[in-house]
Amino acid sequence: MKRYSLDKRKIKIALLEGIHKSAVEYFLANGYSNIETFSGSPSEKELAALIKNVNIIGIRSRTQLTAEMLKMAEKLFVIGCFSIGTNQVDGHAAKMLGIPVFNAPFSNTRSVAELVIAECILLMRNIPAKNAAAHKGKWDKSASNSYEIRGKNLGIVGYGHIGSQVSILAEALGMNVYYYDIVKKLSLGKAVACNSLEELLSVSHVVTLHVPETPLTRNMIGEREIGLMRQGACLLNASRGSVVNINALSKAIASGHIRGAAIDVFPEEPASNSDPFISELQQYDNVLLSPHVGGSTIEAQENIGTEVAEKLVRYSDTGSTIGATNFVQISLQPNVNAQRFLHIHKNEPGLLKEINYVFTSRGINIAAEYLQTDPDIGYVIIDTDSDLDSSIMKELKCIPGTIRARMLY
Ligand code: NAI
Repeated sequence: MKRYSLDKRKIKIALLEGIHKSAVEYFLANGYSNIETFSGSPSEKELAALIKNVNIIGIRSRTQLTAEMLKMAEKLFVIGCFSIGTNQVDGHAAKMLGIPVFNAPFSNTRSVAELVIAECILLMRNIPAKNAAAHKGKWDKSASNSYEIRGKNLGIVGYGHIGSQVSILAEALGMNVYYYDIVKKLSLGKAVACNSLEELLSVSHVVTLHVPETPLTRNMIGEREIGLMRQGACLLNASRGSVVNINALSKAIASGHIRGAAIDVFPEEPASNSDPFISELQQYDNVLLSPHVGGSTIEAQENIGTEVAEKLVRYSDTGSTIGATNFVQISLQPNVNAQRFLHIHKNEPGLLKEINYVFTSRGINIAAEYLQTDPDIGYVIIDTDSDLDSSIMKELKCIPGTIRARMLY
């Protein structure tokens, strides 16, 4: 029977901001029962009181975990951002306290892909303009300027998680898929890789963007690129607001070079639902505007709940930091015959030797050991042939440069 350094039932978990119940279910199914849930984001004062006593905290995007706040988190050993981004946490400060941060970057892939397909159909049928006219009492019954998507060319820029999902769905609907990615990718189905962005733009009836925000993708689609698109093509952006030059797009919509667009992300987005939204694209009926909701579905929230809870449980149970956004990445298979220790320390020469000495000086055999470092910290997982009580922890924690040490089992 294995001993845990801290009984799982005693590990205190706080889940804030109405995180989906799938997270609670995952924790319970894995033996973690000390869970408190909160529907909103606490005030700074409430958060400071709460964070003092929890071992695991789950937040969404409204709760700010600043360096100041993290200093108060004496017992916290891992943070779960139940969101795509992790800007709400000071990742460096967390790392220097030995606290990995996990998120769910890909749980809403399918949601974005579905919206893109729907928008593609609506734009090719000219429905946004017809819808706007109908709302104003105008009956615009005509087949002109309305096309099926079957047999049309879809150009996907960025063939990652979302781009490749869009590829599968589009091909199932009879589209010819072309894609462009800076990394060589395996084509799914009959999708054709383009050698350049220019080639993709010139061949596509619809162009959809699925790249991250990087220096290379900033203003990736400007006047020149839009000029290379086919006359009457459509442009979809559900990636990042900085990728498209909105002014250039606006001009191309006004001139009719672009028949329609669907834009979900903007260079400047309102900070909250109560702030106004202003865009020069608002003047066009053939432009679909949505408030950055490409990935916002109930299913995605549920997936995020499970994905992040799973990463938190894996870290708590085994020490694996695979997928952490601010931490060196380590995973060592759980070893039921060994005793496992985790040691996070400042990246200073000779520290590993001292850690090993704590075991070897007792005649304990190290069965497996895995160290990763970055310029700031080192993280080592050690499996030993031993059955020690937690008194050894005192010695491990006393090694100069130690940030955090845990005995897992
Ligand atoms: P991913 O990382 O799986 O795929 C991105 C792909 O773009 C990769 O294959 C990468 O090699 C490629 N790429 C990077 N730079 C490029 C360049 N200069 N030219 C061509 N290809 C390039 O990312 P994922 O999950 O597919 O997300 C794509 C975008 O969608 C991200 O910007 C993400 O922030 C955004 N997103 C938007 C959501 C929304 O609500 N509208 C929800 C989820 C993601």
